[in-house]
Amino acid sequence: MLELRDVSVSFAGLQALSHVSLSARGGEVRALIGPNGAGKTTLFNAISGYVPLSAGRITLDGKAIDGLSPHQIAARGVRRTFQNGGLFGELTALENVLAGLHSRIDASFAGILFGSRAAREAERAAVARARQLLETLGVAHLADQPVKTMSGGQQRSIEIVRAVAAEPPLLLLDEPAVGLAPPLRAQLVELIRRLAGEMGIAVLLIEHAVDLVMAAADAVAVFNGGIKIAEGAPAAIRNDPAVLEAYLGHG
Ligand SMILES: Nc1ncnc2c1ncn2[C@@H]1O[C@H](COP(=O)(O)OP(=O)(O)O)[C@@H](O)[C@H]1O
Ligand SMILES: [Mg+2]
Repeated sequence: MLELRDVSVSFAGLQALSHVSLSARGGEVRALIGPNGAGKTTLFNAISGYVPLSAGRITLDGKAIDGLSPHQIAARGVRRTFQNGGLFGELTALENVLAGLHSRIDASFAGILFGSRAAREAERAAVARARQLLETLGVAHLADQPVKTMSGGQQRSIEIVRAVAAEPPLLLLDEPAVGLAPPLRAQLVELIRRLAGEMGIAVLLIEHAVDLVMAAADAVAVFNGGIKIAEGAPAAIRNDPAVLEAYLGHG
């Protein structure tokens, strides 16, 4: 459903991505790994419209999305988390998650304003769903706290819940495990598996922790210096000499 063909991105002479081709399918978790500066976040920025391509094409269900604004791309069902937050600090965890949901159920907003019974019912269902997702990542007890009072790990959990609440067809997770305590990391792996397996979401996952990648991913693409140097099943990638040299070897 997501297809990158020969995508290049450059910043003032620096080639951050060179001729990258990659696809993502519903129901599948594809991990992107590689050393710092490999171009992984730039790839997410390119998909979600934050940086322009210098060459190549990105399509979603056969329709080109490169050249669209981040807002337009989000409206087509591409959601992401950011490496460094992106929540409304003054709002509570629940309000942040509901903000993520409402962009999906806009159609019923008029109903909410007019107070129709169906709309109130939809709102109640949304709140229940948001609380349930917060529970899944072990942060239900924080539902009514302003996000700015929380630790980095807690904020990260809430950002993930917000991104997945609307069950987007494509989800981009940029180092979601950073700052999470070990028990929450295990829950995150379980959540990512369920997003793909039960909800049929296509997940692209940037992650440094090899154990997490091995547990969560169906396939792994390895980047170095803006080039995709290898791609395959996690077990095969783990033993690929080029990968060991470029990435795992450097820790
Ligand atoms: N907006 C930008 N302007 C200039 N250079 C950038 C920008 N974003 C990323 N880069 C550069 O592109 C390269 C790839 O960065 P990035 O995609 O963040 O790597 P990764 O996420 O794999 O660590 C780095 O050299 C980085 O400094
Ligand atoms: Mg990055």
